[in-house]
Amino acid sequence: KSCYSVEKYLQPFQLSPETLQEVSARLRKDLLRGLGKHSHHKAPVKMLPTFVRATPDGTEKGDFLALDLGGTNFRVLHVRVEEEAQKVLKMDSQICAIPQEMMLGTGEQLFDHIATCLGDFLESHNLKGQTLPLGFTFSFPCEQLEIDKSILIRWTKGFNCSGVEGKDVVQLLKEAIHRRGDYHIGSVAMVNDTVGTMMSCGYKDQSCEIGMIIGTGTNACYMEEIKNVKRIEGEDGRMCINTEWGGFGDDGCLDDILTEFDVEVDKTSINPGVHIFEKMISGMYLGEIVRLVLVKMTKDKLLFKGQISEALGTRGLFETKFISEIEDGLENAKKILTELGLDWSLVDASVVRLVCDTISSRSAYLCAAALATLVNRIRNNRKLGHLKTTVGVDGTVYRKHPTFSSKLQKAVRLLAPQCDITFLVSEDGSGKGAAMVTAVAQRPAHQSR
Ligand code: BG6
Ligand code: GLC
Repeated sequence: KSCYSVEKYLQPFQLSPETLQEVSARLRKDLLRGLGKHSHHKAPVKMLPTFVRATPDGTEKGDFLALDLGGTNFRVLHVRVEEEAQKVLKMDSQICAIPQEMMLGTGEQLFDHIATCLGDFLESHNLKGQTLPLGFTFSFPCEQLEIDKSILIRWTKGFNCSGVEGKDVVQLLKEAIHRRGDYHIGSVAMVNDTVGTMMSCGYKDQSCEIGMIIGTGTNACYMEEIKNVKRIEGEDGRMCINTEWGGFGDDGCLDDILTEFDVEVDKTSINPGVHIFEKMISGMYLGEIVRLVLVKMTKDKLLFKGQISEALGTRGLFETKFISEIEDGLENAKKILTELGLDWSLVDASVVRLVCDTISSRSAYLCAAALATLVNRIRNNRKLGHLKTTVGVDGTVYRKHPTFSSKLQKAVRLLAPQCDITFLVSEDGSGKGAAMVTAVAQRPAHQSR
């Protein structure tokens, strides 16, 4: 096995600094298309207004409920925001499983299930008699008309429930709660997980103006000047824009950097042709990319004596968390290869580690290119020579992978040298952030920063 032959498979995943600059420049153009009055309909990067005009200012307070749907876990939370102590407290939270069939079933079943989970939570926490405002973190692209009117554009990641696309998600939730008829909720604020993450970090650090997720899916939001958001009537001030950067490349503009494996992952996904950038980066897809590379190398007799085990041959069985574990140490790699039923040698194990490292690094570098586009845009918007800003981050890939965050940070520094970025991992971002959005939404408009 010469290094040369292994290199042949990995080379298409290795993006040069120039290529990353180019990716960043292409995204810069797509941000503009998404913000445009007429161009946004067809724009692959949707740049969705969120109606969040202000980051927290520390005067928010009260008790809130929060729902968090779209990441690894569906959760119900009870959150308290205390003004005096400048604290956001998570009082309690509960994970509620969503069976795989339900993710592909009808919208009515899904929302009935959500309403049941919320009802059970209220019951067991003695909150049923109260009418608390609710922050709904719904991590899918939505055309938001107001803070409590949010139309699902399309499902992404593993969800594909019928009868929800094109509908107002708040309405669907309220109808499901009404069908039960045993509890009430107060005003609702719809929040993307990126926005929740930004807002929860914003409570601690007021220069937090970007939220980024690298988990099951990937996406980011940031504070844009309202005058640049052409589909909103010109106003002073800023609004948080949910970029939905996962859709970058959906018009083919990244085709030159896609590998045959990316094309295959897209083809066999439940939403072929959409969220191309996300499919090169996020947790839902990374494991499958690695698996496809390993299968091809094995078929070409470069690994495992040419023998593909049943597990390695099955779509989806090489989990993204294996990448983190394998890169974390050779012993983990050996254990996982054994569990996958593979007859491995030491050389095989190190080649597998190299494959994992190459694919997770590409993900980190692509995220860095995209984040560099955002910070550079904020810096230009404000005509600053130098920008100091904070990014709130969440997601299992970012949190759990041993070297992902350091690679990403190093690459952003190279791609955006005039920006000094602090990264804050958000704790319970979506719950606390949704509460913050709900609280900020209740603040009179003139108080917006
Ligand atoms: C969680 C947030 O911590 O991270 C969710 O509460 C978010 O709102 C999620 O969607 C993203 O990460 P993952 O890896 O669970 O998709
Ligand atoms: C997907 C969703 C997006 C979400 C991201 C991270 O890209 O479309 O709304 O923010 O996943 O969870």
